[in-house]
Amino acid sequence: MSILLKNGTVVNSDRKFKADVYIKGGLIEEVGTDIVVEQNCTIVDCTGKFIVPGAIDPHVHLEMPFMGTFSKDGYESGSKMALVGGSTFYIDFIVPKKNGSLIEAYKEWSGRALGTSYCDFSFHCCVTEWNEKRHEEMETIVNEFGINSFKFFLAYKGALMVEDELLVKAFKRCKELGALCQVHAEHGDLVVAGQNEMIKKGIKGPEGHPQSRPDFFEGEATNRALQIARHVNVPLYVVHVSCKLAADSIERAQKEGQVCFGEALAGHLAKDDSGYYNEDFDTAAGFVMSPPFRPKFNQKALWSHLQNGVLSTTGTDHCTFTKKDKRMGINDFRKIPNGCGGMEDRPSVIWELGVNTGRISLSDFVSVTSTNSAKIFNLYPQKGVIAKGSDADIVIWDPEVKRTISHETHHSNIDFNVFEGMKINACPIMTISQGKIVVRTKVVDGVAVWDKPELNLEKTGRFVKRKPFGPIYDRIKKLDENLYPKKIEREN
Ligand code: URP
Ligand code: ZN
Ligand code: ZN
Ligand code: ZN
Repeated sequence: MSILLKNGTVVNSDRKFKADVYIKGGLIEEVGTDIVVEQNCTIVDCTGKFIVPGAIDPHVHLEMPFMGTFSKDGYESGSKMALVGGSTFYIDFIVPKKNGSLIEAYKEWSGRALGTSYCDFSFHCCVTEWNEKRHEEMETIVNEFGINSFKFFLAYKGALMVEDELLVKAFKRCKELGALCQVHAEHGDLVVAGQNEMIKKGIKGPEGHPQSRPDFFEGEATNRALQIARHVNVPLYVVHVSCKLAADSIERAQKEGQVCFGEALAGHLAKDDSGYYNEDFDTAAGFVMSPPFRPKFNQKALWSHLQNGVLSTTGTDHCTFTKKDKRMGINDFRKIPNGCGGMEDRPSVIWELGVNTGRISLSDFVSVTSTNSAKIFNLYPQKGVIAKGSDADIVIWDPEVKRTISHETHHSNIDFNVFEGMKINACPIMTISQGKIVVRTKVVDGVAVWDKPELNLEKTGRFVKRKPFGPIYDRIKKLDENLYPKKIEREN
């Protein structure tokens, strides 16, 4: 099967230009003009449309066992949401069981995803305990399974949280293996103290959640992880940076020359903390995630750090629970499963609040939704660019088509959407994954019929291996040579 995308504007992270795109055998065969195509090639007229690399979601939790239940979007609904919304790739997190092995966890996660996902994907691997076995297993995870990023939680005490001693050891191991370290940065002990204080004061509803874990808990943990990574001299990626304090820490570290990156979530960029104070429990609980949505000035700070490159990527932390699930914490906010959606709406939210406000250019949109993730996680140029030889994971956007986000029209398994009612003035109208047209959005009078796209999905999503010692390691060796302590030989 071959496809020619004709008369559109190709947008890559470095430039946008008029060109046709010829797709054949799952790859981009040619980008240019007057391309000679084979007979029976499907021609798609893209006049007035933008042809962009499919978005990459670097942070999702599909069907994850968590807080007494499991997240309700799995690999089927999750990958469908991604494709409908303009993403063609996601990276999910493997979480080992307590005292369990990373290898077993990898097998379990692969077993669920392969043959279920409609689009390509990869995994990060979480490390929640430390021993000799972990140390050994990490090598298999990297060199055999093709996973080059490990995640550490500094929050969720008693469950996933790790102590600084583990961080130091595990960061060193990551460095030996050429892997990227990732952290969920909130001070876990302070969170527990803050939560108990809320309960003592009689604040048991969802409004206790943000008040028990303020921004400086995140600022502290972000800075701590950065300093440990600086000591080890290993690349660090801070997931879901939600506040100015944390972003400023990353900015400072970058200015001092450290190899570090920050990720912003569409949710944290779009929403403030007002939802937690809604009188309806289900609505307020729907926003419970960690780190929480923050007071207004933080969204402005996140956008400015995304604009100036301190934050490199956008993700979703897609981890969804139904109203019924969230009611597990009806009398105690500490028991509300933490997590919100976004996998379907992130590209639209970034386009609306970023491109349509003039905060970022179309090329910046491609950088922060796709290319930067591809580079940091070592998927580039297989993913993240429209160029000859790259995977044909492509989305066609129409800037004239509108839609309104709603849980009534989304493709998630849950009955809540944090972006409910948001008006979007641009729409992904066609998604191409693995070189096939898999989604066509119907449009009536300039409005997307979002809940009824024409779908041609197959469960052929491939696990994509990612090699260690990617471009993020380029500076590490030289920094080591310059950082290491010097010894002076003296005669007496
Ligand atoms: O509340 C959240 N973010 N749930 C998912 C797990 C995590 O912290 O990333
Ligand atoms: Zn997290
Ligand atoms: Zn700053
Ligand atoms: Zn997460």
